[in-house]
Formats: sequence, structure tokens, C-alpha cells
Amino acid sequence: MRGLLTLRSLSVPEIMDIIDLAIRFKKGLTVNYSGKKMVNLFYENSTRTQYSFQIAMMNLGIQPLSFNLAGSSVAKGETLYDTVRTFEALGVDGIVIRHKQDVFYKELETIKVPIFNGGDGTSDHPTQTLLDLMTIYEEFGRFQGLKICLVGDIRHSRVAHGNAEVMKRLGMEVYISGPPEFCDDTGKFLPLDKAIKVCDIINLLRVQMERHEEEMKISKEEYHQKWGMTIQRVGAMKRGAIIMHPAPINRGVEIASEVAECVSSRIYKQMENGVYIRMAVISMALEGKL
Ligand code: NCD
Repeated sequence: MRGLLTLRSLSVPEIMDIIDLAIRFKKGLTVNYSGKKMVNLFYENSTRTQYSFQIAMMNLGIQPLSFNLAGSSVAKGETLYDTVRTFEALGVDGIVIRHKQDVFYKELETIKVPIFNGGDGTSDHPTQTLLDLMTIYEEFGRFQGLKICLVGDIRHSRVAHGNAEVMKRLGMEVYISGPPEFCDDTGKFLPLDKAIKVCDIINLLRVQMERHEEEMKISKEEYHQKWGMTIQRVGAMKRGAIIMHPAPINRGVEIASEVAECVSSRIYKQMENGVYIRMAVISMALEGKL
């Protein structure tokens, strides 16, 4: 299959090639694919991923098609395969898909047009992982030996699962922290107040209420006090350490409102880098390199 489905099948040099190209786009490289058309098929809500893919297409001269899920034949029961096969027949040059099903792309193996995974279930979110890596690389100039703690709702997070897999391969030490019911075997557990003292990166995760089978056991206030990034915790962070979050953020739950925009936060830089990463993966796919 062409495009970008998961980073698990890419080598470290291949991942670095994507980040290098994104950095070149950020520095002003321009490429024009006018006449090409791509479509975003989002079966789950999205602001950043959906619209940064769209802006990336526009920056590359590609015409993005808008897809209205509720007004499409998906509402009549059309399968993912049949919708994708339709857009392929219509002549699009690439399809971005976000879907609640893990590894949704398995059923699309015979599709020839490049497919970009905008997030599958709780497994992977490859362009988010790449933009997180780009942000870390710009900050520290390396990955080897850096300590990162993923904090919060790890169990339900495709960002946590996708990031941890690649970060370990890049030589980073991956830790996790959060309420026991949200933790899994993604990394070694560290109490949050220890993590903020020793880690270079605190990667907060949204409490993903829509994926929970039961109501959260603790109140939002209690969560914030026990597991949230407060101004006091920012003050106790390791010197030079940064805060990341894929967003959307729940202000007052996993992050204090003022922390989102404090000097250690890279949340808006992550969003900005997302456009360049998506330009890089789209252009590599159109050049037959992905
Ligand atoms: C994430 C997602 O949807 O996987 N957001 C994103 O794409 N930036 C994380 C989340 O929803 O919490």
C-alpha cells in the first residue's frame, strides 16, 4: 500500500528523511503539484489533523475536496472500502482517513491511491508522532538519551502508543504517569512529581472521555490536582524541559489554562509543525517515495 499508514514499518533513516523534508519546507522550500486533488475522510471529529492536512495540500497547490460525512452515502451504510474505492475511481491522488477502528487500512490493501492515516483507533497517529518528533528535534537537536513521560489517559491514546514505539527505537527513554486505570505497558511508570524533575519532555494527553466505557472515577478537580500540569509543577520541571500535548486540551483537567501558553509549552509549535510534516508526507507519496 502507498502513503503513510504506520511508522512501525519505516526504518529510523526513513523517519528522519520525512522530518528533514518537513524542516526544509519550514525553511521555505516550495513544490507545486497543481492539478492534483485529495480528499479528507474523517469518520471521527478532528480540527488540527483535518485542517492541517488541508492547509498542507493547499500549500502544495493540491485541491482539497471537502467530504461531509453526514451528507455522504456513509449515512446509508456504505462501507469504508466502498467509499475509498469510489474516490479512487473519481480520480483523487490521495486520501486521508481517520477511523475509530484499529488498523482500518487492512481492508484497503488493494487500493492503489496513496492513503494517509489520520489516526486509527487507539493504535497509531503517524503524522502526530512525526510532528512531535520534529518539535523535539528542533528543541534538542537529538533523540538519543532524552527522557519523555507520557502523562494521563495512555490506555485510550493512539498518540501515546504510536509515539512510544518510535521514540524507543530512536533511543529515548519512555515513561508513563497517570491514574492506574489509564496506564498500560507503554512505558515504565513514574510518579508525576518525580517525572517532572527528571524528564526532558512532559507529553500530556487528553482525558479521552468519548472512549471510556465508564464515568471517570475521580472528579475533574481531583484529576487536575493529582495528574494535571499546574503552574507549581511547571516551576519544579527540569531546566530546559518542555511540555507537549497533541490537543485538543481540557483546560483545568490535564493542564492548567495558563500552562498551555507558558514559556515551556510547545503546544502551538506542534500545531505549526504539523503543516510541514503533512506537506512532507504528501509530497514524498506523490514522488513515489512513500
Ligand atoms: C489526538 C487524536 O485525535 O488522536 N488529537 C490530534 O489529532 N491532535 C488526541 C486527542 O484527541 O486527544
